[in-house]
Amino acid sequence: MTWGTLIEAGLVRADVPLDRVTTYKFGGPAQLLAEVDRLGDLDLIAQTLKTDPRPVLTLGRGSNLVISDKGFPGLVVQLGPSFSRIEISAVVRAGGGAGMPQVARAASKSGRLGLEFLVGIPGSVGGGIRQNAGCFGQEISDVIVTAAIYDLGQGRLRTADKAGLDLSYRHSSVGRLEVVIGAAFEASPGEPEHGEERMRSITRWRRDNQPGGTLNAGSVFKNPPGDSAGRIIDSVGLKGLRVGGAEVSARHANFFVAMPGARALDVYRLVQEVATRVEQATGIVLETEIQFAGEFEDH
Ligand code: EPU
Repeated sequence: MTWGTLIEAGLVRADVPLDRVTTYKFGGPAQLLAEVDRLGDLDLIAQTLKTDPRPVLTLGRGSNLVISDKGFPGLVVQLGPSFSRIEISAVVRAGGGAGMPQVARAASKSGRLGLEFLVGIPGSVGGGIRQNAGCFGQEISDVIVTAAIYDLGQGRLRTADKAGLDLSYRHSSVGRLEVVIGAAFEASPGEPEHGEERMRSITRWRRDNQPGGTLNAGSVFKNPPGDSAGRIIDSVGLKGLRVGGAEVSARHANFFVAMPGARALDVYRLVQEVATRVEQATGIVLETEIQFAGEFEDH
């Protein structure tokens, strides 16, 4: 099996623009992109990676991702519609490509509560698990039961329970060659109106406290233990700091907003500049939460 065979079969496309797939709306093309809709597609990709290895990037909703202006020099794997289904029973099951807010809304509508916080996480189920995403005092680790993970390195599907995912703050054991294809979440019976009310209050809080309506990728840095990266960056006076078209948001200092004409490299350099200035001023070493894909150093 070669990439050429998979291109002929229509499973893989070459030189595919990626600027529309992230919330930042910039970045160069994928050398190869596979939209997978069946487990068998993942088997074919795993076999081809064995004979002709490429760097792999699994794409979720692109809400936490900066793709280099030069693109991604490898294979981007994107889950298609059949991996975006949501099924509600005693547990809530969702495909890895489903959006977290959609999971929250579907569960609440069916009278399964406890997942409302997911409405504040704009990523996919797969991305959310990989990062143990969270907001409003809850994380994926509080509600996950199991995840189905396809290992492109081994060509094997495995089921991981909560312990097997090794979840901690913005961390999981899901590897670079692994694709989360689905998950089950626990939720309790409750009144849909209560769920709706909680989701409304979360959405309202986000509108008031985060720079919605701008191009951004959520929190740029992880919070250091017991503190907030936004508070620290703000205290150093960096709101409004700009590199090219990327700017530290005036509303929340841990969000970096892309202005018209911004490039991925601008965000990358702004991240370095902010981290350097924060360390000089406070001694705190901030660690990025957003993911960078592709080359950034050799511009
Ligand atoms: N603050 C400032 N200045 C700022 C920003 C924040 O002083 O510019 C202060 C706030 O006033 C508050 C404290 O810092 O006292 C914490 O801020 P906030 O409540 O906005 O929470 P956060 O720690 O910045 C975390 C998550 C968000 C999540 C919110 C709400 C991280 C890195 N961020 O933000 O997650 O939405 O809590 O629960 O853990 C994300 O991960 O992408 C994300 C947006």
